[in-house]
Amino acid sequence: MRKILFNDNWYFLKEDVNVNCFIKDKYELINLPHTYNNIDGQDGGDDYYRGYATYVKEFEYKVNDDNPKCFIEFRGVGQSCDVYLNGTYIGNHQGGYSTFRFELTDYLKEDNLLVVKSNNLKNETVYPQMADFTFYGGIYRDVYLIECASEHFDLLDHGSNGLIVTPKVLDDKAEIEVEAWVSGGDKIELNIEDIKVEMNIENRYGKVMFNIDNPRLWDGLNDPYLYNLSATLLKNNEIKDKLDLRFGIREFSFDPNKGFFLNGKAYPLRGVSKHQDRLNVGNAVSKENLKEDMQLIKEVGANTIRLAHYQHDQYFYDLCDEEGMVVWAEIPYISRHMPNGKENTLSQMEELIKQNYNHPSIVCWGLSNEITIGGGAESDSLLNNHRELNDLVHKLDKTRPTTMAHVMNQDPHGTIIGIPDIASYNHYYGWYVGDTSGYARFFDKFHQEHPNYCIGLSEYGADANPKLHSNKPKKGDYTEEYQCKYHEEVLEFINEREYLWATHVWNMFDFAADARREGDNLGKNQKGLVTMDRKLKKDSFYLYKAYWNKEDKFVHICSRRYINRHEEETEIKVYSNLDEVSLYVDNQLIETKKADKIFRFVVPIKGEHNIKAVSGEYLDEIVIKHVPEKDESYVLKETGAMNWFNQEEIKEDYYSIADTIESLLSNEETAVIVKEIMEQVSKSNGTLSDSANNNPNIIESLKQMELATILTLSGGGIKNEDIKKINKRLQNIKK
Ligand code: GCU
Repeated sequence: MRKILFNDNWYFLKEDVNVNCFIKDKYELINLPHTYNNIDGQDGGDDYYRGYATYVKEFEYKVNDDNPKCFIEFRGVGQSCDVYLNGTYIGNHQGGYSTFRFELTDYLKEDNLLVVKSNNLKNETVYPQMADFTFYGGIYRDVYLIECASEHFDLLDHGSNGLIVTPKVLDDKAEIEVEAWVSGGDKIELNIEDIKVEMNIENRYGKVMFNIDNPRLWDGLNDPYLYNLSATLLKNNEIKDKLDLRFGIREFSFDPNKGFFLNGKAYPLRGVSKHQDRLNVGNAVSKENLKEDMQLIKEVGANTIRLAHYQHDQYFYDLCDEEGMVVWAEIPYISRHMPNGKENTLSQMEELIKQNYNHPSIVCWGLSNEITIGGGAESDSLLNNHRELNDLVHKLDKTRPTTMAHVMNQDPHGTIIGIPDIASYNHYYGWYVGDTSGYARFFDKFHQEHPNYCIGLSEYGADANPKLHSNKPKKGDYTEEYQCKYHEEVLEFINEREYLWATHVWNMFDFAADARREGDNLGKNQKGLVTMDRKLKKDSFYLYKAYWNKEDKFVHICSRRYINRHEEETEIKVYSNLDEVSLYVDNQLIETKKADKIFRFVVPIKGEHNIKAVSGEYLDEIVIKHVPEKDESYVLKETGAMNWFNQEEIKEDYYSIADTIESLLSNEETAVIVKEIMEQVSKSNGTLSDSANNNPNIIESLKQMELATILTLSGGGIKNEDIKKINKRLQNIKK
């Protein structure tokens, strides 16, 4: 089999065209990977182009006698696509994140015209349609041309490569089962290190079992050892096809009280989630970009990654295998159940599993994310969809459990909770809802009420714009300082709960969500520990690094971008994974402190000061300045309700937008106002609008949220003047 990278010299036009009419002058010459939403999908307004685009490639082809069959492989096209060769319709693919192939053999000529129409249109049968991220369109991952013999490893089963390896650890040996699906041939020879095994083929299928004595285990970050397997397909002893792949031997389990175990040892999964996009690049990222992402995740010291909210590039799963990251993989069945989308959830799941089965890094398959956000948790259609998905996963993979990420207001005793094998919740106490004490209350209760069920924290986080600062950080102020405070508190909760089978920070990197309008930034979710261009590590990055990275010793002074300070005395906070830190102001030793990861010093400030934190050979320094007045450039402008109410005087014994929906609904007068607003929200175009449109129960299901948060998530659909008016009306009603 010969794979030819097919990325260069495509013609691109952001239009739908007649496939028989290629007017080259209208097109732009580009190389893949490519997306047409790298700019408009990240600049706010929820108005990025969602439509057709056409990609055309001219190429010459000569039949190769040894490899007369020809296929095309796409590693990801957002979100749906149709493929035509020389005017003939070849096929269609629904779903923007997985590999798919078509056979081209019968339609090839010497000079060829390949036309790919991608579209990211609204479509009630393809996920995702409602979610907090941009649905980029385009051929945004690699394309390959594949030439092979008539007898080859199967290429047309959901993008799989026709061979799966299932290792099982048994005392001092591993039992390895290999299964192959081929288009012809009678025998396969397998070579794994110095082991040679033969497999017979019958009806295009073969299966063989053999042992590896004293196997070297794939042991997470400790030793991510991979075995190389080479498979040769023969017919009458003549070589027809060859496939190389890697696999890992490991055993893992989940315990409701003690969390995750890898190779028999407790291995608490503590890490981050990630999306695949970048600033100005969208999702058309390079391998170098992905490598850099992995380096940053390693530096922060995570041992697990939730690859949200869809299937990622094969290359990234490969990196996870190589680096020893434990992975949660999932499909984009998210935010809103679509009764006509079931087939698509099943096909995306089948692709995810068949394409990724051999990655030792993956330990669970995620069925859905916050799917009951707009209610409907008990609807037959939603429950049946989950049951079918769950059964499909069990049929395709007997080694990994299913899980799902529940939305914060999902009833812990609802039917859906019992469907996946292990449970997980997304929770934003201290950001969207209440304060961080909510974590302990919720999870300890869940754990107590479900003593035999594994529970994890699949998302938690707070937005921070690194331009914004405060010496008195508050929820909703988008400062780097509040993000730190939030994560310090949540980490305390996590570190004391070994029963949590995994925890994933939302998110490792800021990412695009074109409907967002908050935190003095448009079109971005800023919950990342690192900015979207990967250039700036926010202070909270170093908090996690202090806790998780035991090797790379460092000291880091926080609030380094908070230079102009108006307070007389200021806190200098240092994050470090060393035991002792000395603080110097203008080269004079102020204090040497022993602490656990977080070192706090109070320093009087007058003019401009050089601040140095030192521990042995490790040093960090910053400059701060005393200013007479508060520097307003550090304070959030008016770009959303959550921001706004923090700055307003609110009469506490009267209702306001700072109250929860639940409390506003408990009063007759304020309930009328809330219902009115929710109708408006449902007509606006923000994060919540789709679910509000489609489910009147949204008011009920979001009752723990403060009204201000909901107005913020309306994505600017409700104007600031109106928010002020609403608050004024509420402030006339006494509690
Ligand atoms: C949700 C969701 C994410 C989203 C996040 C947020 O829980 O799963 O996709 O980005 O919350 O609001 O930041």
